[in-house]
Amino acid sequence: MSKANPHNTPQHPWYILGAGAIGSLWATYGFQSGADIRLILRDQKAVNDYLQHGGIHLSIEGKALICTAPAECPSSLATPIKYLLITTKAQQTLDALNSIKPHISDHAVLLLLQNGLGIVEHIRQAFPLATILQGSTTEGCYRQSAYEFVHAGHGHTYIGNASQDHLQDDTRLTEIANTLSFPPLAISISDNIDEILWRKLAVNCAINPMTVIYNCRNGELLTNPKSRNHMTEVVNEIINVSTAMNRDHWLTGLHELVIDVATSTAQNRSSMLQDVQAGRRTEIDAITGYLCQLAKKYGVDVPINQQILSEINRISALDKC
Ligand SMILES: NC(=O)c1ccc[n+]([C@@H]2O[C@H](COP(=O)([O-])OP(=O)(O)OC[C@H]3O[C@@H](n4cnc5c(N)ncnc54)[C@H](OP(=O)(O)O)[C@@H]3O)[C@@H](O)[C@H]2O)c1
Repeated sequence: MSKANPHNTPQHPWYILGAGAIGSLWATYGFQSGADIRLILRDQKAVNDYLQHGGIHLSIEGKALICTAPAECPSSLATPIKYLLITTKAQQTLDALNSIKPHISDHAVLLLLQNGLGIVEHIRQAFPLATILQGSTTEGCYRQSAYEFVHAGHGHTYIGNASQDHLQDDTRLTEIANTLSFPPLAISISDNIDEILWRKLAVNCAINPMTVIYNCRNGELLTNPKSRNHMTEVVNEIINVSTAMNRDHWLTGLHELVIDVATSTAQNRSSMLQDVQAGRRTEIDAITGYLCQLAKKYGVDVPINQQILSEINRISALDKC
């Protein structure tokens, strides 16, 4: 893995699709660094609200940063999009991309920065000539109100070629990482982003849905013997699937990693718990759902994860009634 530094000025603007917590983080630091950032919001009403609010307000350690980057919506987009950072939730990605499909250049660079897997295969079909990159971040950001966000924790971000997609050379990937490394956000390139994403998926499977089932903060999963044991069973099944896929070496120390993440984020309410409590669709299909799909494909039984998938879908449906 090599470290990228922010020395480059992009020749084309970076469009950001999904101006939520992560999208607004990149938009604000990008705007503050003088980069050409454009936001793509859902519709004209969202653009009007953004303008009325005076842009995005991001709090970081008591300081307030403002982003007034130009905002557009599918009906107002005019120029072809060559660089697109996608920061929607996994389940929102295909609808969001479809809404701007005519404006995306054939050879665009599409960088997915989100949790969950399985979306990239659909994107590749819809945009066969595009360069598709994937990223994983440990930055922490949350929304306080419509356009107010808090950068709650510094982390690191890796990007790499989505499997089967190969850029001509690593120099181009490094350039792309450079153009998005807006201080204090740091992006490194990875020659095995699939491994990073798989480990993240495994941790997400073991923590996020469990916080919904036990209706608790991340750390409480460890203090309740029932949920702790349940997490161990989830992790064992993930390791079985990974073994069938010859990926078990990617999950070395997974039990310990899950405990470390639950401990270091003990006070957090997971995004899945927040989504369920707010009556929003969760990322479960791209997390546990994706694991269960692969388990089926490789002939591995994952009854615990199947049960968790059904349970989250049942709880989500109840919340919508
Ligand atoms: N937040 C974090 O700290 C964090 C850390 C690591 C990874 N992640 C991952 O990063 C991804 C993004 O998370 P997030 O917390 O930033 O989520 P978020 O705050 O919900 O942001 C998603 C944004 O996408 C927008 N969107 C959805 N459909 C759209 C469409 N059709 N057109 C335009 N905009 C659309 C949403 O708008 P509406 O509000 O109108 O739906 C929302 O503003 C997730 O996969 C998450 O798991 C997040």
